[in-house]
Formats: sequence, structure tokens, C-alpha cells
Amino acid sequence: MKFATIGHLLNKENLKEFPKPWIQNNLVISPEMNINGTLGHITGLLLTAEEMMTLPREKVRQKILDAACFLQKKFNVDLIQLGGLTTSVSEGGKWVVEQKEYTGFTNHGDSYTAAVTCKAVLKAANLSHKKTVEQTLAIVGAYGVIGEALSKILVSQFDHTVLIGRRAEKLSELEHYLKGDYETTVDLKTQEADIIVTATSHPTGLLASKNLKKNAIVVDVSQPPNMSYDLCHKRPDICRIDGGYVDFPKEHHLPIPGMPPGKLFACIVEVIMQAIENERKNHVGSIDLSHLKKTEQWGEKYRFTLNELTNFGEPIQKVKKA
Ligand SMILES: NC(=O)c1ccc[n+]([C@@H]2O[C@H](COP(=O)([O-])OP(=O)(O)OC[C@H]3O[C@@H](n4cnc5c(N)ncnc54)[C@H](OP(=O)(O)O)[C@@H]3O)[C@@H](O)[C@H]2O)c1
Repeated sequence: MKFATIGHLLNKENLKEFPKPWIQNNLVISPEMNINGTLGHITGLLLTAEEMMTLPREKVRQKILDAACFLQKKFNVDLIQLGGLTTSVSEGGKWVVEQKEYTGFTNHGDSYTAAVTCKAVLKAANLSHKKTVEQTLAIVGAYGVIGEALSKILVSQFDHTVLIGRRAEKLSELEHYLKGDYETTVDLKTQEADIIVTATSHPTGLLASKNLKKNAIVVDVSQPPNMSYDLCHKRPDICRIDGGYVDFPKEHHLPIPGMPPGKLFACIVEVIMQAIENERKNHVGSIDLSHLKKTEQWGEKYRFTLNELTNFGEPIQKVKKA
């Protein structure tokens, strides 16, 4: 199967990072990549994260659909991945699957992202000599596609979890399938958490210094990040970790502007692995935990796994002991 990812710009400056020939038909389109015979493109809309979330939703959705149709017709793409906030504006990708114009397969790539994020949380807790059963976790964006899967997997492993979202009715839906000690809140109540995971569609920095307990760990899955570079400098006691990054085998040449060398987003990796496996299915909306487990097995098989924790692409040598 041939794949293409559809992302977007993080901000206006981001556009300068892409070579000029990559800009065509109102999209960023990489040259064709060949991963052991599986072909694909990394592409993106010329909209910033802020524009993705503030322009009229119908307009943004139409741009995603136009891109999917163009990639299918012009580049014979069979499978698209909805990167960054394209999932958030399309009901977890379900809207794209409902459209008749695009007839290929769609995957949000959030399953492997959630799997890798859980690994990053447990790895960071381990490195900091923290026993999760004695710790408080906060998940910001707890009923989002990634946040919901994280809640299902992680709540039972922690002493207490604070599940944070903007809509009380969506938070209460989580109660149907969670086991363990937790509370739900519409407030950004992260200040007592030892480990905070952010997986929101908020298009800029969200956490402020007052939201962070001394020596807390922040696993920041959100793109754009929810803990800013500046805040990392202001609060050197905090260990911020890039959530959702995966190391890829050295033999692959995957130069994606803006990505730290040897790293790729787990959502992109998921769709590459699906294409190699020739799995002709959609993966949109809520994450099926059996599919999430399958993506972990694919990761082991193709050696696209989380080996090293990083903060804004820089290796984290050790996490401070609380
Ligand atoms: N690192 C990676 O490989 C990777 C891969 C995929 C996605 N991502 C990133 O992960 C994030 C989540 O993706 P997703 O697909 O799970 O998105 P999603 O399904 O749209 O979930 C995002 C959730 O964040 C909530 N939210 C937005 N602003 C908030 C705020 N100020 N406080 C609390 N909650 C807030 C939204 O609530 P409402 O529904 O009420 O608005 C929504 O439930 C995005 O930033 C995306 O770009 C990263």
C-alpha cells in the first residue's frame, strides 16, 4: 500500500524549514520515500495550528478532504494518516471516512502514539525512581482520542489520577470504563501531580509555572507542545519529555524537516507500518486497544520503537529524583 501523512504547520516560521520544491498545490509534499519497498509521502496543509483550530471547521475539513483526494489521484495513495490537529477537527477522522470523494483508507495514527506515550510515562517514572502506585498522574485532554486510551491504560497503575478536559459531560462518560482511583475536573488541576501527560488540541503552550509541582515530569504529546521551550528554561526542576516520538532503524533515510535526527512521530510510524503490513482498514475515532497492542508488535517487528527519552529533541540523560 502507498501511504501519505497529512499534517499542518505548527506556526508561520515552520514553513521556512521546508525546501521550496516541497510546496505544490497548496500543500507541503515530500519527495517519495521508500521504506523497504513501501512508498509514501509526508505532506501537510499550509495552515498553522492556530488556523486549524480557529478557521471555520467546514473550511478546514474541506482542505483535508481536498488533500486526501489529490494525493489519491495524483500519487496513487491508498492510505492517509491524519497528523496533528487534522484528527481533532474531523471527529477523530470519522468525518473523512464518511466522505464519498476519498475512497482510500484513513488512520489517525493515535494508537501507536498512545502506546508509545504509556511507555514514555512508565520509563520516566522508572528513571526517576518513582513507583507509579505511590504517585499522582494528571492527564490533560483526558477524553480526546489519545487521552481516552491513556486513561484506560494508566489510571489503574497510579495511586491517583486527575482527568482533565473542558467538557464535564465528556469527562463523566469516562467513568463507564475506568477502574482505579481518579477524579475528573474541567480545571487545569495539575499542580499536585508527579507526572502530567498533555494530549490536547490547544494550539499553543497551555501549562504555566503555577500548574507544575516541584520536580514534576511532563510527558508532552501535544503538537504544538503544551509546555513551551521558555517554560522549560524557567523551570529547570521540571523534566519535560517529548511524547509520541519513536526512534527508527538507522538504515532508513527519513529526513523530515524539524524532526530530531533518528526520530519520527509515532503517528507517522503507525501508518508506515500499516502500509508495510498491507492492512486495508480504517482506524478512526476511539482507539481499539487490541489494535493498539498490534501496533506495539509491529513496532518491535520493524524496530520503530522508543529507545531514548528526549526534550525538544535533546536526549534526557537522567530524570531528577523527587
Ligand atoms: N507526538 C505524536 O506523535 C502525536 C501523534 C498524534 C497526535 N499528536 C498530538 O496530540 C494531541 C491530541 O491529539 P488527539 O488526536 O488525541 O486530539 P483530540 O482527539 O482532538 O483530543 C484533544 C482533546 O484536548 C481537549 N482540549 C483542548 N484544549 C484543552 C484545554 N485547554 N484543556 C483541556 N483539554 C483541552 C479537547 O477537548 P474538547 O473536545 O472539549 O475540545 C479534546 O478532547 C494533539 O496536539 C496532536 O497534535 C501527537
